[in-house]
Amino acid sequence: MAKIKTAFTERLGIDLPILGFSHSTDVTAAISKAGGMGVYGIAHDPPDMVPSRLAAIRRKLGSQPLGIDIMMPKGMPESETLDSVQAGLPQRHVAFVDSLARKYSVPNATRKTFYNTVLRTPDYFEGQLQALLESDVELVAFGVGLTPDAVARLKSAGKVVGALIGSPHHFDAYRDVGLDFIVAQGSEAGAHTGSIGTMVLVPEIVQMAGDLPVLAAGGIGHGTQIAAALAMGAQGVWMGTSWLSTVEHAQGDHAIGDRLREKLFAAGSGDTRVTRGSSGKPQRQIRSAWTEEWESPEAPEPLKMPYQHALVGDLITAIEEHEVDPLLHSPAGQSVTWSKSLRSVAEIMKELGDQTLRGLDCIESIRRAP
Ligand SMILES: Cc1cc2nc3c(=O)[nH]c(=O)nc-3n(C[C@H](O)[C@H](O)[C@H](O)COP(=O)(O)O)c2cc1C
Repeated sequence: MAKIKTAFTERLGIDLPILGFSHSTDVTAAISKAGGMGVYGIAHDPPDMVPSRLAAIRRKLGSQPLGIDIMMPKGMPESETLDSVQAGLPQRHVAFVDSLARKYSVPNATRKTFYNTVLRTPDYFEGQLQALLESDVELVAFGVGLTPDAVARLKSAGKVVGALIGSPHHFDAYRDVGLDFIVAQGSEAGAHTGSIGTMVLVPEIVQMAGDLPVLAAGGIGHGTQIAAALAMGAQGVWMGTSWLSTVEHAQGDHAIGDRLREKLFAAGSGDTRVTRGSSGKPQRQIRSAWTEEWESPEAPEPLKMPYQHALVGDLITAIEEHEVDPLLHSPAGQSVTWSKSLRSVAEIMKELGDQTLRGLDCIESIRRAP
């Protein structure tokens, strides 16, 4: 297997400059086992579930390094519950969501999921943070939002701490909180995203960051893009979409159903849309009737996080539970174009490593040309 080292991979003790984000414990473990670093997203795990999730990854992974991603968005309600928020939702929004359920004949949800049981609150985040402080994970990244206090506590517990940003303005806000690395995530990325492209954002943040290591994210699904990111001064990449269509993601917790996977295989780089319809914050997803309905003139302006989530949580759960084809969707970035068949994480990691070396050779041969 190719080994491609940077100062940051040396610090983490990994062989490839690839950090892979996933909500699946199987995918996370497989990325670390294949020479990169798996980063497990705990956004959907209530605090009391976090220790068992981490233990499940450790069982598969042994002592290899493990990262965790936590979301701590600002402005969440302090003293509300999901029920109290749902009781106060605007009638026009409730009527629109009911009309979607009727239009697409969506049966009621019977499952309890993150979407229909959790309200994002400061207490929820504090509980998750406490579980991470008590854990043996090596690295923690903040996905959306952070507090300087949370960074300081994680650093005191010996974790390598970083954050995802989508603009120079975010970097300015995080400059002095003591982070160990930054993930510069361009607009092409799956899930919550900004408006600046990866090719523009990465060198800009590398320049601003000075000695602080920067990882490139957003739209990366081919090793030549990793070579390009390294050429722009990044010390590695952070990828999410590429793991959705893997063998490991088809099984175990957070498994993706066959129908959704077929949509991912069929999608090209132009088949994603940014919508606020799922969480209330702009999120890049695979194009579907869900994204189209929220763009339609009849749709109300989506609510803010976490109110939009409280509005659509039951319907999203029902769409996934009953695999309601037109509305089935997933966060996915433009790199979805590289996912065309079911492959293992190890196979993808090997290919990414080989392609990166070819990309680096290409740069080197141009430099040496007379
Ligand atoms: C299905 C999916 C779910 C995601 N959930 C989160 C999340 O909970 N927290 C987070 O910080 N990033 C999340 N992301 C974004 C990734 O961390 C990563 O920045 C992004 O996927 C990189 O761009 P790419 O999708 O083009 O590889 C998610 C991405 C995907 C595809």
